[in-house]
Amino acid sequence: MTTFDLFAPEPDDAALMAQLRQTLHDHAHRYYVLDAPTLPDAEYDRLFRQLQALEARHPELITPDSPTQRVGGKPLEQFAAVRHAVPMLSIRTETDTQASGAELFDARIRRELGLTALDPAIDYVAEPKFDGLAMNLRYERGVLVQAATRGDGEVGEDVTQNIRTIGQIPLRLPAGVPAVLEVRGEVYMRRDDFEALNDKQRAAGQKTFVNPRNAAAGAVRQLDPAIAAQRPLSFYAYGLGAVTPPEAGGPVWQSHFELMQTLKSWGFPVSELVKCAQGAAELVAYYDAIGRQRDALGFDIDGVVYKVNSLALQRQLGFVTREPRWAVAHKFPAQEMLTSVLAIDVQVGRTGKLTPVAKLAPVFVGGVTVTNATLHNEDEARRKDVRVGDTVIVRRAGDVIPEVVSVLLDKRVDEPAIFTMPRLCPVCGSAAVREEGEADYRCTGGLFCSAQRKQAILHFAQRRAVEVEGLGDKLVDQLVDAGIINTLPDLYRLGFTALANLARMADKSAQNILDALEKSKQTTLPRFLFGLGIRHVGEATAKALARHFGQLDAIMDAPEDALLAVADVGPIVAKSIRTFFDQAHNREVVEQLRACGVTWAEGEPAPVAAQPLSGQTFVLTGTLPTLGREEAKALIEAAGGKVAGSVSKKTSFVVAGAEAGSKLDKARELGVAVLDEDQLKEMLDGGA
Ligand code: IVH
Repeated sequence: MTTFDLFAPEPDDAALMAQLRQTLHDHAHRYYVLDAPTLPDAEYDRLFRQLQALEARHPELITPDSPTQRVGGKPLEQFAAVRHAVPMLSIRTETDTQASGAELFDARIRRELGLTALDPAIDYVAEPKFDGLAMNLRYERGVLVQAATRGDGEVGEDVTQNIRTIGQIPLRLPAGVPAVLEVRGEVYMRRDDFEALNDKQRAAGQKTFVNPRNAAAGAVRQLDPAIAAQRPLSFYAYGLGAVTPPEAGGPVWQSHFELMQTLKSWGFPVSELVKCAQGAAELVAYYDAIGRQRDALGFDIDGVVYKVNSLALQRQLGFVTREPRWAVAHKFPAQEMLTSVLAIDVQVGRTGKLTPVAKLAPVFVGGVTVTNATLHNEDEARRKDVRVGDTVIVRRAGDVIPEVVSVLLDKRVDEPAIFTMPRLCPVCGSAAVREEGEADYRCTGGLFCSAQRKQAILHFAQRRAVEVEGLGDKLVDQLVDAGIINTLPDLYRLGFTALANLARMADKSAQNILDALEKSKQTTLPRFLFGLGIRHVGEATAKALARHFGQLDAIMDAPEDALLAVADVGPIVAKSIRTFFDQAHNREVVEQLRACGVTWAEGEPAPVAAQPLSGQTFVLTGTLPTLGREEAKALIEAAGGKVAGSVSKKTSFVVAGAEAGSKLDKARELGVAVLDEDQLKEMLDGGA
């Protein structure tokens, strides 16, 4: 690494500037692409300012590849048109019908190549289909001279000024690259960067973006490069445009994968999820594996892309109209769809919480048909301004409950009424109140409210609590509405006749319910405790309480400070537990349940064993080689550690896997120790 010693003889300015450019380039690559910075930020800034000062003195020596040219430039009136030297093609989409899209693609390629079942499997490369926008980066003699959007494939827009602001995109390439080199790839925005940008926009009272792709597209097409520079963009390379041909001294590659490795060595970000795959079976496995990782990746993808690896075979396969025959996109089910709002209902939860729910025209999104989407609470519903009749974007990602992302205001007809939260519980008519500092309205009816009673019973009977098989919401509705069951112990007082007399209840089913109730009496302390539905006491807390105290009476009588000694229990939880058991009717419910024969094995209070990770906070980023995100989290928590979502000075360790991004940068910035999966496993085993 070059150092700049004040006492060394001063080289001439031009040479010094070249040296500074080189150092800053190297560092930017290590920082943005390799995630392994070697210079402290302050030192980078100092060198950067030194170069800026020299450039101010010698404007004639400013080169387009200078790192100072990433920012700045004047706002444009409009973007100039760029005719692509090699058209930017689109790509065929393979959809799953009977067979998987991967199998259809492989079968098509084999047919085109005239292969039979006896011929060996074809080598493919499988890649994520990044959900951003396509970009052509043109380098001449190793210097970035132009960045252009795809446009209509023939003519795009010159967005060079904005693209220069992307730290991951090299402005200059190492010596020896082809005289003309066009690298193609996707400009996108990471999810954490997107969230941070929206937070910033909200704080400044400006409009927020609907999703990372829209935010990225907006940034790229921003006429003022100073604004574009503040929008955090990223880039992945996935192919080439025009290149100096081999006969003119250009490079020769045999395969797409080899080409990708070369691009990586030249400083371009290439996803670690780009993998070689043999034949249809491995493509199918790739599709499934990436599908499972989709929600844990730091960025949005909308499918995968399969490419024939051999460039000779690619040439042989050629193109049909505007699409290559050698590549296809295989999409995942869309996570966002348009639909319309039929009504806005207000549901009452177990704790009396009122939740506005948009009733939707059925829509297939995220792999399931969705008819309801939560609007969370009054403020959210107002902020999004969802009204009956509106056309909305619905999102369902992974197992997360569907939500309304935004309203398409230009599709709104007439002026439907603004949503307001009812002041009375829609179920029991009790007052609904919103406490100071709370986001939610709650029905004050308590167990007088049949909605709360029903939810309390369903909560107690669920599989994760005492488990009464077959006791579903329809049956609970019937039992509560008919006034047969009012409190939990009433469940165990149910007789055969009462059950069998219900509409649509056969004798056999009635007996099954009674058997299931009998079976549920043998339970465990954590299940019983969780089943009581104490606010803030989830399964994990119930387990921790049971482990700590051993016996229910000890928990029921524990003062707040004794509860606070339990791992996982903070002041809010402790207060909630105390409040619950301070109410005579709750103690009565417990007594009656015991009297009805609900039992569990009670134990001794556990000695407080020091757990290997207690007191340590972890942040997970990127894709770990073997552990899923949830799995890693569960292991850390089981060992007494905490898992947080963002890196701060309080973070003990950042666990980083492939494609780790800004959290890793942040860890380095704050000097937080970084672990890989193996090191984490060692700690979990108590090895550190
Ligand atoms: S290859 C001739 N690879 O998908 C094939 N495209 O191509 C050129 N996309 O808007 C495209 N991820 O920006 C390729 N790994 C990937 C990709 C990818 C995303 C986008 C691309 C274009 C669309 C169709």
